[in-house]
Amino acid sequence: MALDIFKITGPVRLDGTVTISGSKNAALPIIASAILAPGKTILNGVPNLSDIEVMCRLVESLGCKTEAVGGKIVIDSTVIDKPFGDYEIVRKMRAGVCVLGPLLARCGKAEVSMPGGCAIGYRPVDIHLRGLQELGAKIELKNGYIVASANGGLKGANIFLGGPFGSSVLATANILMAAVLAKGKTVIESAACEPEITDLANCLVKMGAKISGIGSPQLTIHGVKDLNPVEHTVIPDRIEAGTFLTAAVITKGKLKLKNCRLEHLMAVVDKLRTMNIAVEENADGCEVSSNGHIRATDITTLPYPGFPTDLQAQFMACLCMAKGNSVVTEKIFPDRFMHVAELSRMAANLRKEGPHVIVSGVEKLIAAPVMASDLRASAALVVAALAAHGETIVNRVYHIDRGYERIEKKLNAVGAKIERQSV
Ligand code: UD1
Repeated sequence: MALDIFKITGPVRLDGTVTISGSKNAALPIIASAILAPGKTILNGVPNLSDIEVMCRLVESLGCKTEAVGGKIVIDSTVIDKPFGDYEIVRKMRAGVCVLGPLLARCGKAEVSMPGGCAIGYRPVDIHLRGLQELGAKIELKNGYIVASANGGLKGANIFLGGPFGSSVLATANILMAAVLAKGKTVIESAACEPEITDLANCLVKMGAKISGIGSPQLTIHGVKDLNPVEHTVIPDRIEAGTFLTAAVITKGKLKLKNCRLEHLMAVVDKLRTMNIAVEENADGCEVSSNGHIRATDITTLPYPGFPTDLQAQFMACLCMAKGNSVVTEKIFPDRFMHVAELSRMAANLRKEGPHVIVSGVEKLIAAPVMASDLRASAALVVAALAAHGETIVNRVYHIDRGYERIEKKLNAVGAKIERQSV
């Protein structure tokens, strides 16, 4: 893996149009859903990202063939002869765990590596396993692997999927994909309502699944015997869109976002307006502009439709330059604050107290060498660097490449000065 760095010169003012890519977090479970429908599933609008490549490698290791051309991926799942999710692949990306449900449904057994830790904190999979057990799967943990079997097939059940931090996105995806082929009726209570789950459910319905309550916390599924492969276009990436919104805010700029669905960003738009930022919807997306005065505000992350944890770091970067004090509270991943120390190196005034960070706005940020630690924290460092005085070096850019398609090209096209270098 090339250890690229970004050299970012600031401050700049962004102005122009950015086209948002398809959603990574929608595409990942939808690629796994192809396991359920033997034959060729065609997905459009899939972003060209390292996480997507890893997911394709994972389904290939199970027996599928994949082909990627531009934003289109064809997954041929005619043969699944090795229901085994290797540690070497799943450790790279937690979303790999969501092949478990479809494999169990299709093959009656599956062995998938436990995903392991990551920089945003401890992320257990107990809710995934509980849900599958409710559907009749037998589950054992052996040598770091989840060994699951459902000899008599999966059976519909009433399942509560809430956890200590609310609903779980990938657990909902996993259980939903298992339930569509289970015998009888399944009701999932406290299902995640994220647009990525809605997109997955819509794709499953196209394949022939019977699901009602899509988009709500109660999903009702009537199991069917088999599903057919389909063609599907994934929704735009609301987190990439949100990141570009923060880039416009911090640079006191003006951006038009194309292929952006504001209805997926209601909590974000509401916050932006509180922060004195103008956001207008247009035919294919939106326009955001800042008059240069960012107002401080408090942000609490919550499951959808609340404020997304995946935009917490980028918004904190903006609040660093707001007038007044803000409190940022993380309610999904209480340890997701790796960016605090790095933003402080750029002269931000931050104080962490448990799951809260108190942000005291400063007049200016100052460039520094900083370390990317996880995907969204790294994006926040890029956003901060656009406004910081001098040349910021962001190390370990591979974290950003996991979730942003050519971020430096998109930003440079609207006025940023970012240079990628291989070291
Ligand atoms: C998904 C997203 C990630 C986002 C997160 C929350 C993908 C590929 N990733 O991750 O970008 O930050 O949703 O919106 O879509 N939990 C448990 N037990 C479990 C599962 C989760 O306790 O079995 C906890 C987690 O530790 C966390 C909370 O539930 O505190 C929510 O996590 P979850 O929604 O599962 O996150 P992911 O689906 O892994």
